[in-house]
Amino acid sequence: MVEYAAANINPDMSFLEMLDVVNEGLIAKGQEPIAFDSDCREGICGTCSLVINGVAHGGQKGTTACQLHLRHFKDGETITIEPWRARAFPVLKDLVTDRGAFDRIIQAGGFVSVNTGGTPDANALPIAKVDSDSAMDAAQCIGCGACVAACKNASAMLFVSAKVSHLSLLPQGQIERERRVAHMVKQMDAEGFGNCTVTGSCEAVCPKEISLSFIARMNREYGRALLKGAK
Ligand code: SF4
Ligand code: FES
Repeated sequence: MVEYAAANINPDMSFLEMLDVVNEGLIAKGQEPIAFDSDCREGICGTCSLVINGVAHGGQKGTTACQLHLRHFKDGETITIEPWRARAFPVLKDLVTDRGAFDRIIQAGGFVSVNTGGTPDANALPIAKVDSDSAMDAAQCIGCGACVAACKNASAMLFVSAKVSHLSLLPQGQIERERRVAHMVKQMDAEGFGNCTVTGSCEAVCPKEISLSFIARMNREYGRALLKGAK
């Protein structure tokens, strides 16, 4: 751990803007800036991956690190910032981890590859409201990895279950339904993520408030796929 002083900080700054200010100061002094990941800075890309004061994304409900503001901290407070810690997310430098394992899980099955034709009128493809609502809830997952970082088993079940669920609930996702869940779970295990023991820490830190119930849904999907002989 290295201690840095953060001067000229405005309470309305975002957490990443504070890191920018600290880095500008370090660069001005000829020192190496702190490496951290960010992209959209508006809570939609999942790139900002910081454990802040021991909590993934800093502990504000439904909030990514990039949307966290300095007004939630005390003036003069020492804030500890760490990268995600999980064997499947190796630390590259400072606060930057390699989350390629998530990409490989998506590559294993998190897509629809059948030809669904042109864009139909939304009303031409009836989908039960309960299913479209659940699919949209699951599709909110931004792949940040906070669920893995918070889990004592470094389980990726919340992430994988969100991706499996949003596709398996919709008509376009039916043809590859069994193959998808079988392949994604296999890749998840191969990447070294742990098992879910239902502690709920993933749901508690998830900035998109993905529900644990999606893990139960994925377990049912997986069992169904095995019964149908998916490999
Ligand atoms: S389930 Fe939540 S915490 Fe996990 S990757 Fe998706 S958005 Fe991030
Ligand atoms: S930088 Fe995109 S979600 Fe935080």
